[in-house]
Amino acid sequence: MRDPYVEKAKQENYRCRSAFKLLQINEKYQILTPGLTVIDCGAAPGSWTQVATNLTNSHAKKEGPVGKVYAIDKLPFYPVEGATVLGNMDFTIDKTQETLYKLLQGNKADVILSDMAPNASGIRAIDHDNIISLAYTALQFALQITKVHGTLVVKVWDGGKSQQFEQNLLKFYDNVKVIKPGATRDESTEKFFLARGFKGLKIN
Ligand SMILES: C[S@@+](CC[C@H](N)C(=O)[O-])C[C@H]1O[C@@H](n2cnc3c(N)ncnc32)[C@H](O)[C@@H]1O
Repeated sequence: MRDPYVEKAKQENYRCRSAFKLLQINEKYQILTPGLTVIDCGAAPGSWTQVATNLTNSHAKKEGPVGKVYAIDKLPFYPVEGATVLGNMDFTIDKTQETLYKLLQGNKADVILSDMAPNASGIRAIDHDNIISLAYTALQFALQITKVHGTLVVKVWDGGKSQQFEQNLLKFYDNVKVIKPGATRDESTEKFFLARGFKGLKIN
C-alpha cells in the first residue's frame, strides 16, 4: 500500500511524513510565522524542525523577521539549517532543560512543540501512560519558558488520561483544541492538543 504522505515527503525533501501533520495544523491555525522562537521537543529525524525553520524564517532565506528554532531529541540527528539541534539529549532530564534555558539567554519562546513519543510496547494502556508522562514534561517546561500569549502543541496517544490533561491545559491557556491532522494514519490513536493564549504563571 502506497502512503501518499511518504511519497510527498520524498518529493518535497522532508525527512519524514510527519512534516505534513505540522503543516496541516499550521495551515488551519497559523501558529508559526516569521520571527517566532520555537522549541521542538522530540524532533528527530527533523521534519517538524524543517517546517519550523521554513515558517519562522530562522534560516534567514527570506526577507523579513528571522526566527529561532531549537530542536531536541534523545536520539542523534542531522543538523537542520537555521536550527540549533540538540541530539542525544533526553528532554525529561533537568540538564537538557537547563541547556535550553542557557541557550535562550533569558528570552522566552513563542511556540513549544512536542511530537515526543516513547517506544511503543503495543500495550495501549502502558503506551498511553508513557506518552502522557512526556506530555506533562512538555507542559511543565512550557509553563516556565513560554511568552504570555504563546502556544503549545503536544501529541498524545489517546486514552483515559487525555481528558484530565486537556483540563490541566485549560488552566494555563485561553483556548485548547484537539486536532487529528489528515496526515495522521487512520488506525492511530494519536491526537494533538493545540493550546493557545498562554496566560502566564501567577506568582504568589
Ligand atoms: C514521532 S518522533 C518525532 C518526529 C519528528 N517530529 C519529525 O517530524 O521528524 C518522536 C520522537 O520523540 C523522541 N523522544 C521520545 N522520548 C524522548 C525524550 N525523553 N526526550 C527527547 N526525545 C524523546 C524519540 O526519540 C523520537 O525521535
